Amino acid sequence: MVLELHSPAVPTFTQDDRIFRDENVLQDDYTPKDLPAREDELEAYTNSLQPVVNGASPRNIFVYGETGTGKTVATNRIIDDLNRDQKNFEDVEIKFVKINCKDLTSYQAGVHLVNEFREPSNHINSTGHSRADVNNKLWTHLEEIDATHVLFVLDEIDSLSEDDDLLYQIPRANANAKVEGTKVGLIGISNNFTFRQNLSARVQSSLCEDEIHFAPYDANQLTAILKQRSEKAFSDGVLEEGVVPLTAGLVAQDTGSARNALDILYRAGTIARNENNDVVTENHVRQAMDAVENGLIKDEIRALPTQAQLVIYTVAVLNQSGQNQVTKKEIHRLYKKFCKRTGVNAKSQRTIHNKLSKLQLKGFLNVTEENKGRGGGKRYKYELGVDADLINDALQDTPRLRDLSTNSTISQFS
Ligand SMILES: Nc1ncnc2c1ncn2[C@@H]1O[C@H](COP(=O)(O)OP(=O)(O)OP(=O)(O)O)[C@@H](O)[C@H]1O
Ligand SMILES: [Mg+2]
Repeated sequence: MVLELHSPAVPTFTQDDRIFRDENVLQDDYTPKDLPAREDELEAYTNSLQPVVNGASPRNIFVYGETGTGKTVATNRIIDDLNRDQKNFEDVEIKFVKINCKDLTSYQAGVHLVNEFREPSNHINSTGHSRADVNNKLWTHLEEIDATHVLFVLDEIDSLSEDDDLLYQIPRANANAKVEGTKVGLIGISNNFTFRQNLSARVQSSLCEDEIHFAPYDANQLTAILKQRSEKAFSDGVLEEGVVPLTAGLVAQDTGSARNALDILYRAGTIARNENNDVVTENHVRQAMDAVENGLIKDEIRALPTQAQLVIYTVAVLNQSGQNQVTKKEIHRLYKKFCKRTGVNAKSQRTIHNKLSKLQLKGFLNVTEENKGRGGGKRYKYELGVDADLINDALQDTPRLRDLSTNSTISQFS
């Protein structure tokens, strides 16, 4: 007997990318050579660093602006330029020490900075040293180093928790005579607008000697950025003419973030590739935009507290069963049943009212106001402000609520 061999019905990988020439160019960690639309900010940076180039004391610089507006990439670019050019400087040697402060306390960031001056085998750990000890180690390293200037670059300083002591100590290291043989400066980068206001007065006055603001990009600026990247990223003739302007226009209205714009263009390309299409169309951009928005909404739903998730889920079930606008009482009745089913303690109707208001503020719910007639008073009616499928999808990833059937209906629970 001869066994017939069937080719397996599994997808095969082939190197056949008609859409992308080099998709890495659209990824967040790719560093472009030029930064269109940031000429003014780069010039401001250069001016602020001029004293260092001249051998004088650095000015401390606070860089701020919305997420995705090029703060990190522009800073890296400035550091690279200065590192390249300093070979020509006489009597000036600048060392940059750059860390990202995300998820670090002020104390842990101090430990990281000390370790930047040490071999891995000699690193200190984040426990067992007093803060004064960590600071003293840092001052010693600064004193001993050969460089004439050390510039600390602390990215995402708004996530430094605990206190802002480090942001005071570093800019003041020379003035407070902690370090005398090396000129010390700080560049602090933040995307949180309230952060500056909340800094203590002493930090504000020392860190924010110079401030450089990165505004959200407008449509023309995003077009320039996307064009520059897409020439390298996509094969010739793949992008329909309207793709870049449409992406730029949509993102400019929304966030003005280059990261966002690049992400959407990249997704539009992958959607076209998955469809085996030879061109990226405006329709692909719209699909990509929806996918990004839906992803963000799902992330937000996943991040809600369980009680709020149960409330929004209840409204979704009521809406899906045909009751489009529901009162807080109706919501509370079904919510209690869902609580019982999931083993969560049910809250009072009044607490639920607060949750509903918060969900409305976040855009998850829409509310309409109804006059109750002559008796006076008002009644609020709620409906979902987002697609019910997004809520179901998001809750599928929430272990505690996963078991609530996606097809729950009122009749099952009343
Ligand atoms: N002017 C520009 N030209 C080319 N690419 C840019 C420009 N501005 C930003 N980008 C790109 O957009 C993405 C986001 O930029 P970057 O990481 O610098 O933003 P950010 O302001 O630091 O954001 P966050 O506050 O979230 O850290 C990166 O991929 C970066 O290369
Ligand atoms: Mg950044």
